[in-house]
Amino acid sequence: MTTKIFRKKIVCIGAGYVGGPTMTIIANNCPDYQVTVVDISEERINAWNSDQLPIFEPGLLERIQKTRGKNLFFSTDIDRCIEEADIIFVAVNTPTKTFGEGEGKAVDLQYIEQTARRIKKNAKSNKIVVEKSTIPVRAAETLANILHSGSNSVQFEILSNPEFMAEGTGVEDMEAPDRVLIGSKGTPSGIIARDTLMEIYLHWVPRERLVTTNLWSSELSKLVSNAFLAQRISSINTIAALCEVTEADVTEVSRAIGMDSRIGAKFLNAGPGFGGSCFRKDILNLVYLCEYYQLPEVAAFWEQVVALNDYQMERYVKRILQAMFNTLVGKKLAVFGFAFKPDTGDTRDAPAIYICKQLLEERADLNITDPHALDNARKELQGIEGEVSFVEDPYKAAEGAHGIALITEWNLYQELDYQKIYDSMEKPAFIFDGRNCLDHQALYEIGFNVYPLGKPPLNHL
Ligand code: NAD
Ligand code: UGA
Repeated sequence: MTTKIFRKKIVCIGAGYVGGPTMTIIANNCPDYQVTVVDISEERINAWNSDQLPIFEPGLLERIQKTRGKNLFFSTDIDRCIEEADIIFVAVNTPTKTFGEGEGKAVDLQYIEQTARRIKKNAKSNKIVVEKSTIPVRAAETLANILHSGSNSVQFEILSNPEFMAEGTGVEDMEAPDRVLIGSKGTPSGIIARDTLMEIYLHWVPRERLVTTNLWSSELSKLVSNAFLAQRISSINTIAALCEVTEADVTEVSRAIGMDSRIGAKFLNAGPGFGGSCFRKDILNLVYLCEYYQLPEVAAFWEQVVALNDYQMERYVKRILQAMFNTLVGKKLAVFGFAFKPDTGDTRDAPAIYICKQLLEERADLNITDPHALDNARKELQGIEGEVSFVEDPYKAAEGAHGIALITEWNLYQELDYQKIYDSMEKPAFIFDGRNCLDHQALYEIGFNVYPLGKPPLNHL
């Protein structure tokens, strides 16, 4: 057997939603590089080495199967992989701090710091260290201070290469990215490191899509990008509230304003609030940074994006309560969709968590259904008081229910037989389409009392 000689060895520390998929795409496009993804979680690594991946992402399994064992590896042998690597990506989690200074806003950098210390301990030759995790602006400075502390003569060149993929479309986002951003120092060694990373992406990304900046601009652009996207959602959600009381229709308003090329059509879908592990966390990080640099007006502007998201989730629950005669006690509600968006099993910070907790607080009985997120839904609601069932089949979830709350716009919910569902429900039957993805007129004609979001209801009562 001959051992393949690779051009360079890459290791990625952190085998999560970012580390696993990003490295798979690199391995698929760069057969001349050896790519190893490492993690402290043996369970996660075992799952990446099986066909039951730890995350659901369309198209990912096929791509892993193409390269796993050839130039893509998953391992828990972190120290050896660090020692052997030329390029080290850091893709560990950077959650919001839940304690001490900056609690609830600042980033908890403990996993980044642990990673930096482990790199320093095991590196015996010069390395390029790439920040893939989303971190506060100027975090590279902290990383450099840790890596270069003490008497180690190894040189580390730090790059910022934030990830912009969205879950559910991760594979296509990474295979044809709008841009790849690389921040580096302007020193000769910084430029060499930057070009080394560019070489990898040039295997499949056109040169004009590679954007280079200084380190701080790159770090900040990642936070700002998420903040701008979330800001659009909160903006349209405020207009949804106004539409509901003025008989304007938020879908029509989105379409009308989105056709202005200066505004653009994307991220203007009103909903029950944005979720996911990053929007809230990254905006709060931005808010904390603004407060830290004594820019309270700027901090307050961005904090409002999060406040309005909370308001939107509350509003969705209030509308259900009011429509259903101001009491949910003992009423059964089918919850369609728990993942924070379709095509993922991820439920981190999903609006469904808050909404379900509020509905349970009102003493409704919940039948939660979702094609990929029921295991995570169970974990999210563990220990919460109330009647909750987790049901795979949406028809069963709706059986005997007084209402349906659609929270995640999985395609399959648009293809259901709503006549059959209506026939099996208590009357009057309600449906609260939090994503405006169903045919409201058809549902009304079947007999439902239909409550779209940001539009007047279609009500038989
Ligand atoms: P995740 O929680 O899914 O994965 C992080 C992994 O890092 C975990 O498996 C954890 O066990 C591992 N880890 C933590 N400390 C470690 C250590 N010291 N050594 C080895 N492994 C360690 O997180 P994620 O969703 O992949 O996010 C990672 C980063 O990427 C975050 O900063 C996030 O903001 C950013 N990001 C996420 C997305 C996304 O879609 N999820 C998109 C863009 C950017
Ligand atoms: C988001 C960004 O889109 C990615 O660019 C970024 O890399 C990622 O965060 C990250 O840093 O983690 P993601 O959270 O996976 O990606 O998914 P999005 O498609 O952005 O959706 C986020 C939330 O906004 C979902 O709950 C979705 O339902 C909601 N949304 C989105 C709306 O309510 N309306 C819209 O028009 C669009």
